Amino acid sequence: MPERHYRLCLLPGDGIGPEVIAAAVGVLEAAAQRFGFAIQTAAYPVGGAGLQAAGDPLPPATLEAALAADAVLLGAVGAPEFDCEPPARKPETGLLRLRQALGAFANLRPIRHVPGVGSVPLKDELAAGVDFIIVRELTGGIYFGRPRGFDPDRRAGFNTMRYEIAEIERVARVAFALAASRRGKLASVDKANVLETSQLWRETVNRLAGEYAGVALEHLYIDNAAMQILLRPRDFDVIVTGNLFGDILSDEAAVLAGSLGLLPSASLGGPVGLYEPVHGSAPALAGQDVANPIGAILSSAMLLRHSCREPQAAAAIEQAVDRALAEGLRTRDLGAPAIGCRALAAAVAARL
Ligand code: IPM
Ligand code: MG
Repeated sequence: MPERHYRLCLLPGDGIGPEVIAAAVGVLEAAAQRFGFAIQTAAYPVGGAGLQAAGDPLPPATLEAALAADAVLLGAVGAPEFDCEPPARKPETGLLRLRQALGAFANLRPIRHVPGVGSVPLKDELAAGVDFIIVRELTGGIYFGRPRGFDPDRRAGFNTMRYEIAEIERVARVAFALAASRRGKLASVDKANVLETSQLWRETVNRLAGEYAGVALEHLYIDNAAMQILLRPRDFDVIVTGNLFGDILSDEAAVLAGSLGLLPSASLGGPVGLYEPVHGSAPALAGQDVANPIGAILSSAMLLRHSCREPQAAAAIEQAVDRALAEGLRTRDLGAPAIGCRALAAAVAARL
């Protein structure tokens, strides 16, 4: 058994989740062989699969396994048959509980345009060279604030957006440090012209800026940010924002990368890192071997970098992905001629 040995908790979830996780594990195994470490995997149900297996979108055994692992790799959650379930029994609730239980408050979502990926509905010269990371606060804000619920007669629903200074500080520090290690630019996105949470957000980020002299900070309102990332996408290096704004901006930014199916993410800050593609469960594509595995494969590269401290293997996977895409290998979300999920993953593994 190699000295470097990592225990990975796999949570394939619903829809295309199991296919993209199988694809990513194949690439991880190839990377392990080439770089001389070992991975040991065990899969547990989450989301709709958790409801089916154990009547809970985050079964206790799944959470226990996640907390005991070196890292967690998740596919996707969400299944139409559970759409009408009450909030506590929605697949998505399982994912939110998992993020919170893992203390994964900083969600890194890199947005990169890979040369050769041409299905962008924007002008090629707009997307070329785009390379930024969204740091989304993941365990607070309106996703978790209380009170929340419905009035007893269900004539109204309500949610609470709440941020404590400590929650803002810890995610802002991750973003400042990341910007300092990259091109030294941080954009903080809020709605400080309207929301108190955003006023506190902006004050707090400004206060920390003094500690990061090498980082140039700008503030944008969320509505303007949504426009600026399409008008001048290459200007952005690191973007830090709250939970809801980050959710929306990252799907929008996917258009710059070429497809939502390409985007990976890492959720950090707690004892165990959580890695998941940004895309959803895409039930309509499930079971047909047409899903794009790149988001999951790049998530596994982030897993190797952040949780296993295997930066060389991580970079090798990223380069192998770039090479496969540059050679024109693609799934159908990126245009024709397309190959399947399994074939694209095998092509990436062969290029390691
Ligand atoms: C995401 C997803 C999730 C979110 C859903 C599935 C709960 O959209 O990871 O971006 O809103 O955080
Ligand atoms: Mg989302």
